[in-house]
Amino acid sequence: MPELSLDVLKEELTAWKGCDLAKTANPVLGEGNPHATVMFIGEAPGQKEDELKRPFVGASGKFLDQLLAGIGLKREDVYISNVVKYRPPENRDPTPEEKEQCLPWLMREIALIKPRVIVPLGRHALGHFLPEITISDAHGKAFPFPDSMTIFPIYHPAAALHNGNLRSSLVSDFRALGEFLKTLT
Ligand code: URA
Repeated sequence: MPELSLDVLKEELTAWKGCDLAKTANPVLGEGNPHATVMFIGEAPGQKEDELKRPFVGASGKFLDQLLAGIGLKREDVYISNVVKYRPPENRDPTPEEKEQCLPWLMREIALIKPRVIVPLGRHALGHFLPEITISDAHGKAFPFPDSMTIFPIYHPAAALHNGNLRSSLVSDFRALGEFLKTLT
């Protein structure tokens, strides 16, 4: 058996057909630093991500890159992934079944990376970690989580592309995240 690594995970995901979305879209595993302290988790790939088989490489990805740069981080410093590993048709919301089917991949990524901080981007990712709280209540705050992890929810960058008011919220939440990261020893 080859040692479990992100490359092995990618190969296994490519061969996997356990989600109906695999009939119409390419698999998109997360990417980034395998030893990252921080892991960002979005909803599902969009058109550009499907084409390039990489997460967050379209308009929201560009905004995410800017937000990261604002707190002195590059994509290569962090790990970026999604709850759902395939683009839903027409970028519709993923169904609860699709999220459930894809979840083991995210759990395996978390087990490999062992991040200290998980940043769910938006309500779909947040729902998996803290189902009792809404993104509008939770964003920009640190929540202790089992295994010495912290969940630090932030609005999805795509939401800010459609709603100017959320933009400043995202910028200040990233600033708060940057400050929180400085407190980690
Ligand atoms: N939106 C997401 O949630 N994930 C991506 O990879 C791209 C856009």
